[in-house]
Amino acid sequence: MANLFARKTMEALMSESQEQGSHTLKRTLGPFALTSMGIGAVIGAGIFVLSGIGAHSAGPALMLAFVLSGLGCAFAGLCYAEFAAMIPLAGSAYTYAYATLGELFAWIIGWDLTLEYAMGASTVSSGWSNHFVEFLDIFGLHFPLWLAYDHWTGLRTAMDMVARGILEKTQPGLVAGSKSFADALGALVAHPTDAMVVQAHALLNAPKIFGVEIGFNLPAFLIALLITAVLVVGVQESAKFNSAIVMVKLAVVLFVLGLGSHYVDRNNWGHDWHSYAPFGMGGIGLAAGLVFFSYIGFDAVSTTAQEAKNPQRDLPIGLIASLAICTVLYIGVAAVLTGMVYWPNINLEAPVARAFMEHHLVVASHIITIGALAGLTSVMLVMLFGQSRVLYAMARDGLLPAKFFGAIHPRFRTPWKGTILAGFLAAIVGSVTPIDDIGKMVNIGTLLAFVIVCIAVVVLRRADPDRVRPFRAPLVWPIPVVPVLGVLFNGYMMVKLGPANWIRLIVWLIIGLVIYFAYSRKHSRVQKGLLPEPPTE
Ligand code: ALA
Repeated sequence: MANLFARKTMEALMSESQEQGSHTLKRTLGPFALTSMGIGAVIGAGIFVLSGIGAHSAGPALMLAFVLSGLGCAFAGLCYAEFAAMIPLAGSAYTYAYATLGELFAWIIGWDLTLEYAMGASTVSSGWSNHFVEFLDIFGLHFPLWLAYDHWTGLRTAMDMVARGILEKTQPGLVAGSKSFADALGALVAHPTDAMVVQAHALLNAPKIFGVEIGFNLPAFLIALLITAVLVVGVQESAKFNSAIVMVKLAVVLFVLGLGSHYVDRNNWGHDWHSYAPFGMGGIGLAAGLVFFSYIGFDAVSTTAQEAKNPQRDLPIGLIASLAICTVLYIGVAAVLTGMVYWPNINLEAPVARAFMEHHLVVASHIITIGALAGLTSVMLVMLFGQSRVLYAMARDGLLPAKFFGAIHPRFRTPWKGTILAGFLAAIVGSVTPIDDIGKMVNIGTLLAFVIVCIAVVVLRRADPDRVRPFRAPLVWPIPVVPVLGVLFNGYMMVKLGPANWIRLIVWLIIGLVIYFAYSRKHSRVQKGLLPEPPTE
């Protein structure tokens, strides 16, 4: 019987982190590139899209939801930083779990990171597509609905358009964007007439294969493939591409703060606790669980460990600096958004861009759409980067086929086969599945990874207190304040995501366990007492 809780020794980890040669990953990233990769992965769909639903759940207290969510990330981030500096390997939380909690946990977390990175990239690719279609609209170019969405989302969008048309004709007094308009629209879409259904299908105008209407989100598919190609060509190229995009999106966020603050009406924030937080702490907790998506990705910095020039110093900098910068910006954007528009009227699809539109700032709104497009591009880039590195680490331990996922391209020195497969799968999922629920699954999966890392850091302080720790998270030992707060904050957000998402997470983990018992356990190199598979070309 194999030992399910076998651990990877620190010695094996250290020797792996010091490998050199043409068949290894290339060390090119410094502190600036690492921080910008963190920001690249973080600012995206969460702030530009999900802040709307966050505002509807928390009211003006959306700012507090961002604080709560940011605190959960900060506690986990400090624990990540301790590990990343101590065990600078590409597998990130997967590797940390292997060294502390044993193989089964390592597998679970590796599988869980796939949920975060690959499914996260899919979720974002579909948000990218929405913004791209909106961007083309600025120039009067209209994308066919069936090629802009998966089948279900396309049909829902078509139905929404039909219902809007009906409302505008039958109830011209209703103001588009107002709460009463949204309520009437929701009621109409929930109980469509047969005529509405026929009209929606006509609007969708989808071709049929064997009598079944198809829908394919072409922009989402193509952007995921394009990014995959950039990632295969090289990490330095990817980092440069990322840094350029990060500049654009930071400029756009600062633009939102600068211009938007002139249009803030303090009355929109409410006059007392009740009007500030209309749904109380429960609403704030729910919003925190939803907008948590906007913070996801800073941890991907730790997957660059084998490509960082000085990982022990620079990984903690990259992790903490990117998180700190984004937290401050997010709280600012939440304040501006809820100050510009009274919260029930905040738009759900493109809340930030629409807030400017409502103030008749058309050009500004277009600039924000472009910023969102840039933002989402770099999120996908770093997510897919992280995914391929986690697969690479798992393959070298024998938990996945090493010849495939561990292969390094002789010229580009990137794990190209794993990158292409991950990118292709993300492209497929993003183009044919309705993505909303996958986004919530990504949240709960990432929160689980954060909880495990917070526990693991305490386990290792106890098991191996003398190990050199180039970065020590504060308040971990002897009283583990930071890890316990990390578990509590992130655990609370997991609870707030509700039973449906727990079930999805459990199903995902069960699938992972089937693969573990069918393949990984039998091929594990740690179980056989072997060192990791040397990298191959
Ligand atoms: N944090 C990333 C985003 O908001 C995943 O798009």
